Amino acid sequence: MRRTAMAMGAFATAASLTACGVVDGIGGGGSSATPKKGDDITVGLLLPEKENSRYEKFDYPIIEKKVAELTHDKGRVEYANAEQDADKQNSQLAKMVADKVDVLLVDAVDSKDIASGIQKAKDAGIPVIAYDRLAQGPIDAYISFDNELVGEVQGRALVEALGSRAASSKVVMMNGSVTDPNAAQFKAGAMAELQGKVNIAKTYDTKDWKPENAKANMEKAITAIGLDNIAGVYSANDGMAGAVIQALKETGAGKLPPVTGQDAELDAVQRIVSGDQYMSVYKSYPQEANAAAEMAVARVQGRSIEFDALTRDKVDSPTTKKVPSQLVPVVALTQDNIKNTVVQDGIYTVKQICTSKFKSDCNAIGLKG
Ligand code: GAL
Repeated sequence: MRRTAMAMGAFATAASLTACGVVDGIGGGGSSATPKKGDDITVGLLLPEKENSRYEKFDYPIIEKKVAELTHDKGRVEYANAEQDADKQNSQLAKMVADKVDVLLVDAVDSKDIASGIQKAKDAGIPVIAYDRLAQGPIDAYISFDNELVGEVQGRALVEALGSRAASSKVVMMNGSVTDPNAAQFKAGAMAELQGKVNIAKTYDTKDWKPENAKANMEKAITAIGLDNIAGVYSANDGMAGAVIQALKETGAGKLPPVTGQDAELDAVQRIVSGDQYMSVYKSYPQEANAAAEMAVARVQGRSIEFDALTRDKVDSPTTKKVPSQLVPVVALTQDNIKNTVVQDGIYTVKQICTSKFKSDCNAIGLKG
């Protein structure tokens, strides 16, 4: 997999992000080729799970709304969620091919397993865009975040949090699911920042990204390393960070070591406010989901200039080279920039974050409505 460098400061604001990288205007006429289809189209959307709130709360509704907007309310989204089951996702994909959707957006549970289904879609003349995770097989395009940057941002933040203690620090690494190609990229990005700077005492891959599996692994790490010897935890996402923190607390941790995360889940933002979690990675779901909808509609309507403008990067998968892609940048989310990221982008209101339990912590960091 080749990563297209998109140099972004780890602590840039969401405002500067929106200014960069996205081409808009697909919907506004300006067609470059004779449209293959009109507005009456169906976009098949396959998402991988429900555990992480982003998929049902942001990705699906944003894509649905954007498709409607781009097609004058004539286009629709056929949606299915695989709930972490790769076989289920393969049948969902087969059904969408049988239903003759016009284009597919596929966020794979298992990037390898899905390849045969993607081949069948291709044979049926349905273009496939890999969404968020780089599915194998003959995909037409790929839209995701800059996943290696996600890992770098996490690793860098952890090293910064450890400060002068870094060199003598024992760190536990909780990585994501091995069937998710993003997990390998998060890990590679983090390793680039952590290696040689901290002592990685234990590393785990987490089956299905499940918090309960991360919790069991953290308990093992605590037994092996000793609670007081763990100076920091690299957790690849927020769901697992919550489980790691719970394991640390249940084993009697007084002051919690810095723990990283990803996804800016609401409870993670609240843990950041209270100081239980050190950071998360904010990925602008609107930016990714809107661009995906634009790509899907442009592809079906045969507007190739717009499609090319939306996919200027090139990424290699293990099976397919030079996939036209768009990689959206990300930012570290800490106590300092909650307002400039998730609040500014309308992901959460201050009221949602600063519930009565977190009121005084919110006041202490100056987070007000
Ligand atoms: C990744 C995705 C993350 C997070 C994670 C766990 O592939 O990019 O945003 O959702 O899976 O579900």
